[in-house]
Order: sequence, then structure tokens, then C-alpha cells
Amino acid sequence: MRLPQALVNEWRHEPDWLAALPRLSAECAEHWNLELEEPIATPHSLVVPAADVVLKLNAPSHFEADHEADALVRWAGNGAVRLIARDDGRRAFLCERCQPGSRLWDAAVDAEDVVAELLPRLSIEVSQPQPFRHLADEAARWAEDVQHRYDVGDRPFERALLELALEVFASTDTRDGYLVNQDLHGGNVLRAEREPWLVIDPKPLVGERELDAVGLLRNAASEGEAAVRRWLDVLAELGLDQERARGWGVAHALAWGWSDDDGWADEHVLAARTIAAA
Ligand SMILES: Nc1ncnc2c1ncn2[C@@H]1O[C@H](COP(=O)(O)OP(=O)(O)OP(=O)(O)O)[C@@H](O)[C@H]1O
Ligand SMILES: [Mg+2]
Repeated sequence: MRLPQALVNEWRHEPDWLAALPRLSAECAEHWNLELEEPIATPHSLVVPAADVVLKLNAPSHFEADHEADALVRWAGNGAVRLIARDDGRRAFLCERCQPGSRLWDAAVDAEDVVAELLPRLSIEVSQPQPFRHLADEAARWAEDVQHRYDVGDRPFERALLELALEVFASTDTRDGYLVNQDLHGGNVLRAEREPWLVIDPKPLVGERELDAVGLLRNAASEGEAAVRRWLDVLAELGLDQERARGWGVAHALAWGWSDDDGWADEHVLAARTIAAA
């Protein structure tokens, strides 16, 4: 199998995993009796369609994806792709394939309507025992990281953004138990047949409902403040606290706004600023 170049670039610091991928995917194909097609050219994981399923393998250090399969199990196909099989040792799973699989943000439909139909079904309370990380624990780590990266970044952005993010992290509700997705956006909602649209690629946590807003707001921010305001209104209509959603939009854009290789990502800083101002 030829690995996508984007994947090889993204995981160049994990050469052992890259080297093992042809073997790992061949073992999955054998075990699950798959005829693998060409991998999708995507950087963050190995995604390989095979007839009516998709094989996905996540890198060992990609911890945000640790519980992707668990989230799909909890949703049980209701608004998201169904999990078909999993092999946690290989960090692999099989899920249903969306056909034609085009992405919501490329479609000529009202994305707000689609999300308004999906989100209430995805926003479920998680019963114990459950494997997910809690948002409050992530927030404690983000608070330290974001502060530190701000300090070493030589005033990478206005202090007010930092303070807003730290305030959100510090006030995280430690008891809320909703299954939330850090990566819900139009690139991870695909056209399907069983339902018109299905969510893929969750990066799940358990915590405050408003965290579901972060991917939607981050992506809306690239279109400007008016787009962010439209989404904030949709989210409020779905029962989310609008100011909390905005706060998480800013805080999470900064939490995910840094890479060790390149430092602060302009795109994320700009998203945080646009969400704060909208
Ligand atoms: N179940 C599926 N059915 C059809 N296509 C899929 C499915 N899962 C993934 N794909 C295709 O593969 C692409 C990448 O998948 P996915 O978003 O899960 O990977 P990822 O590496 O986590 O991506 P990223 O983090 O860049 O969003 C999707 O945009 C879609 O084109
Ligand atoms: Mg994706």
C-alpha cells in the first residue's frame, strides 16, 4: 500500500508507526476479510475504504483519537457512522462507509439546518462506567500549556484573548457528563444513505455540552464574524449557552493552536479573535 504523502509528512516524528502501517493494515484486511482500496489522502490518520466499510488506523501519540471508536459505540449509528469492528491493540477500527461521502461544507445545503438536526441526537449523557477523558482534566492541562506557550511566544496575541481562555478553562464544570466532540464541523459530516448526513471522526470528551460548538465556530471564523454569529444563534436555539459556547470556541482554538514544530498557528489565533469579537 502507498501511504499518502500528507500522512507521511504529518507523522514523520513517528517513523516506527509509519513503517508498521502496511503490515497493520494488511493484518486488519486479513482479519476482517477486506479488499482494501486506495487510502484517502488525509494527514491525520490512515483511512482506507473497502467496499461498504472504512478502515481507520490512528497513530499511537494521537491521543485525542483514543476514544473515537467508543464515541461511535455510544451513538450507535444515531447521527454518526456505525462502528462495525475494532482492534484497540492496532488502534484500528472499521466503520460504515458513507456513500457518496461528500462533505457538508462542500454541499449546497444549509449546514446550520443539518447540524441542528444532528446535534440534539449526538448530545447524550454518558452513563458509567465510561472510558472518556473529562473536559475538566483537559482544561487544566490546556490552561498550563496555553499560558506557557503565550509566555514563550513573545506576545503572540492580545492578552485579553489569553485571559478569556484561562477564565473558561478555570471555570470548567467538573460534573457535566455529556459526550462532546472537539471536531464537529462540516468536514466531518458526510452525505450518506442510511441517514442524509452522518458524523465521522469524533475527538470525544465528556463534559459541558457547549464544547460541541468549538469545531463549528472555528470553521465559521474563517468566513468572518457574521458567520460566527449565525452559528452562535443556531447553537442557542439548540439550548446551548451562547456565551459559554463562544468562550469555549476561543479557548479551544487556542488550546489546539500550537504545534511544537511551528509554534502558534495564525489560523487558530485569528479564529479565536474572530469568535471573541463576533
Ligand atoms: N465512514 C466514512 N465514509 C466515507 N468516507 C470517509 C469515512 N471516514 C472517512 N472518510 C473520508 O476520509 C476523510 C478523512 O477521514 P477522517 O476525517 O476520519 O480522518 P482524519 O485523518 O481524522 O481527518 P482530519 O483530522 O484531517 O479531519 C474524510 O474527509 C472522508 O473523505
Ligand atoms: Mg476529519
